[in-house]
Amino acid sequence: MNRNAPLGVFDSGLGGLTVARALRNAMPNEHIIYLGDTARVPYGTKGAATVIRYAIGCAKHLVERGVKAIVIACNTVSAVAPERLRVEFDLPVLSVIEPGARAAVEASVTGRIGVLATTGTVAAGAYARAVQQYSTRAEVTSLAAPLLVPLAEEGWVFGEVPNLIIDRYLLPLRDAHVDTLVLGCTHYPLLRPAIEERAKLLLGQSVKVIDSAQSAAADVATFLRDRDMQSNRTDPGRLELLVTDLPATFSMIASRFLGEDVPTAKQINL
Ligand code: DGL
Repeated sequence: MNRNAPLGVFDSGLGGLTVARALRNAMPNEHIIYLGDTARVPYGTKGAATVIRYAIGCAKHLVERGVKAIVIACNTVSAVAPERLRVEFDLPVLSVIEPGARAAVEASVTGRIGVLATTGTVAAGAYARAVQQYSTRAEVTSLAAPLLVPLAEEGWVFGEVPNLIIDRYLLPLRDAHVDTLVLGCTHYPLLRPAIEERAKLLLGQSVKVIDSAQSAAADVATFLRDRDMQSNRTDPGRLELLVTDLPATFSMIASRFLGEDVPTAKQINL
């Protein structure tokens, strides 16, 4: 293992850049190769077998590029594929669901936790299972919020349209009396200001909103440090962007997700 090899990060599309951003903040010297499978996004509406097949293709490509570990940025992939990827590939595979679940358990006072995620993540029961590892008392209410993905992609993150949709998704969580809300999808952090505002109105001022990207990045940093796998370079880490379709559109929207100017994305075939 070369500790200065890049980290491989992949997602169904550009939402996973929120995870890349958190990783770059947590570990500014790490090189990152980010692969967005923009030709096949969304994964969240597809069946588990299809998502696993796509995930193997993405991971294989990153392994061929010599990454030292894989970070699955996509919640939907994290819900169904990590075990399979660990069997297929001989390198660490880290995902975003456990860190988000743990942060929610730590934040919740009542143990009633709400999760907004894709249909695939909800169908897999992934957050409920992960939360049970940290608390047997916690009750998880998971809801699919598929319309938030295109809103984020289109940049419709403020105003009456997102507010109406967010309210519809939050109402069942109000009935479940949740005190903590997990944004269980790569795209939702882009809508965080609107979601947080509506959640305060509907679920109560003290509601806590958890973004699994932050918790996941902290866990990846600890994982690498504990195993002496963190880069010992002192120059700023590079970010290489790969996509499977429409690199120009990707680069345009990506800067919004990353919060910084982005390098031009390269198109690859999987
Ligand atoms: N990346 C997906 C996730 O975090 C959201 C977009 C999609 O459905 O592919 O679940």
